[in-house]
Parts: sequence; C-alpha cells; structure tokens
Amino acid sequence: MAKVTVVGAGFVGRTAAMRIAQRGLADVCLIDIIEGWPQGIVLDLKHSAPVERFEVEIVGTNDYKETANSDVTVITAGFPRQPGMSRMDLLGKNAEIVRSAVEQVTEHSPNTMMITVTNPLDEMTFLAAEVSGSPRERVMGMAGVLDSARLVHYIAEELKVSPLSVEAMTLGSHGEQMVPLPRHAKVDGKPLTDLADAETLNRLYERTANAGAEVVSLLQKGSAFYAPSASVAKMVNAILGDTKEVMPVCAWVSGEYGISDVFVGVPARLGRAGVEEVVEMDLNEDELNQLREAAEAIKAKCAELEKLG
Ligand code: NAI
Ligand code: 2OP
Repeated sequence: MAKVTVVGAGFVGRTAAMRIAQRGLADVCLIDIIEGWPQGIVLDLKHSAPVERFEVEIVGTNDYKETANSDVTVITAGFPRQPGMSRMDLLGKNAEIVRSAVEQVTEHSPNTMMITVTNPLDEMTFLAAEVSGSPRERVMGMAGVLDSARLVHYIAEELKVSPLSVEAMTLGSHGEQMVPLPRHAKVDGKPLTDLADAETLNRLYERTANAGAEVVSLLQKGSAFYAPSASVAKMVNAILGDTKEVMPVCAWVSGEYGISDVFVGVPARLGRAGVEEVVEMDLNEDELNQLREAAEAIKAKCAELEKLG
C-alpha cells in the first residue's frame, strides 16, 4: 500500500486525510505541531472505519520520523486567511512554516512527491521545490482543480444544469490572476459561449476568482476545506493510480506556452512520475497573454520570497 503524509491537521489537512483513507487510496500519516491534535483526529477517524468500511493504516503524530517513506506528501501546514486578508498577506509567516515542514519531510522521505496547498499557493510550491531540491516534476500545487470545480458549480447554478454536464478549466495563478477559458468550456458538449453572454460569463468568472474570499467572509473564521480536500484527493488518486488524467495543476513550466522557470497553473498529465507532461492547449493570443502575465506576477512574488531568505 502506498503512503501519503499530510502535514497540518487543520481543516484542509484532516479532511484530506479522511478522504484519502475513506477512498482507500493509501495509508495515511497526519502530522501537526500541536501535541495530541493529530492523534485525536486519527483516533476519531479510525473509529469511523467500521462504519465507512475502509482498512488503510492511519497514524497521527508530532514526530517526522513517522512520515518516513511517504510516496506523496501534502503540505497544508500554515495560516489560513481571515476576512479582509488576501492570500499574499500570508507570504512571510507561511514561508517559515512550509520551509521547516519540507526540510523535515525530505529528510525522512527524500523521494516523496509533494503537493502543496498552503497559501499563497504558487509561491509556496516554488519554495517547496527549492527547499526539497526534488526534481521539479515531483513537486506541484493544488489550486486549479479547486478553482475549476468552483467555476463548474457557478456555471451549473446559472444555467440550471447538473455540474456533471459542465466542463470548464481555469489556469494561471490561485488568486486575482486566475485565467478562465470561456472558449474551452462546454455544457452537455455545447460551447458555453453559445449559452451565456459575455456579461454573464464575466460575472461567473469574477465570482469564481473571489470564491475563496466569499467562503472566508461567511465563515468569519478559517477558509474553505471541503472542496480543497476533494481536489487534493483527486490529485493523489491520479498520481498513485497512475491514471494519466489531465487536470489544472500548479506545475513547473519550461518553455510551454512560451513561459519558463516558474510554477504556474497549467493543464498537466499526472501519473506515478508526478507531472508527466504540461499539456499545451490551443490558446489564442488573449488567453496566452493572460497566462504569461500570471506567470510574470508569480515570478515577481517568488523573487520577493527569495529576498525574505
Ligand atoms: P488551519 O488553521 O485549519 O490548519 C493549519 C494547521 O497547520 C494547524 O493545525 C496548525 O497547527 C498546523 N501547523 C502550523 N504550523 C505547522 C508546522 N510547522 N508543522 C505542522 N503543522 C503546522 O488551516 P486550513 O484551513 O487547514 O488551511 C491550511 C492552509 O491551506 C492555509 O494556508 C490556507 O490558506 C491554505 N488553503 C489553500 C487552498 C488552495 O486552494 N491552495 C484552499 C484552502 C486552503
Ligand atoms: C481558497 O481558495 C483560501 O485559497 C483558499 O479557498
């Protein structure tokens, strides 16, 4: 059985651990700095096994030794947004946490694949790659699966159809420079652009880009976790199941779309080797420009991060 470590037993981490265990994707190690917390969550999760009928091993710990030999590590440790905060406000504080987590994980699992979740997502993915020194295709960030799912939800709600009949993808950054792709979206196989006017589409895209903040403002404490953890589980399944599915992932880009040397949201084929291919969709000039601008903005933030040390 493969092993997945989830670092951070907060809302996203513990829900991701639950989804991975319930789907029987891997044995799970859940680690947090708060003593007793991951152990308590895991005990509760184990109590649910006879009801949910899963058999994987689950460990809750504060000791990185127990994370040894992980096939995949999901980094969720760090502060979430509070109302009024942007993801970028978390940069300095979360960089320290992610750096320390990645150093310790890598010491015990030098070959682990890494999926970052902690915000600001694109920059934390870059940091995880730098600190781990792992080949770039083995490090990736989760955001595009979540943003695309949110977009699908809003399209389905607007057009009063099942979300299962909608196909839509967002690329770019996990933030203001999300790149929606109206030309590529479909509802029951029909182009979305035939079913909704430009004003409606813009409203849906804006709502999608602000969906995380919308959840934060309703919760007042903490941020989204059901859709984020479902998105993590989808990526873990694609990697460990070697499914070769293509999904939007914050991945290292070297030349595709005329972009180089940056982690940014692009369609990626996931399998046992990690990001096995950055898939080049047929983007027009406007879409390409938006993606390149997002990549440039992420590069600038990563340069700021490097200055922080
Ligand atoms: P949370 O506050 O519920 O959980 C964070 C956990 O990290 C806490 O249990 C805390 O004790 C733990 N932690 C802090 N420092 C640690 C360390 N050094 N080692 C191990 N654990 C440590 O937060 P939540 O809601 O789980 O969110 C986690 C992160 O994920 C946030 O940065 C949030 O913004 C981000 N996020 C990103 C999403 C994305 O699409 N990429 C979606 C949702 C959340
Ligand atoms: C989200 O989009 C906070 O990044 C997190 O929900």
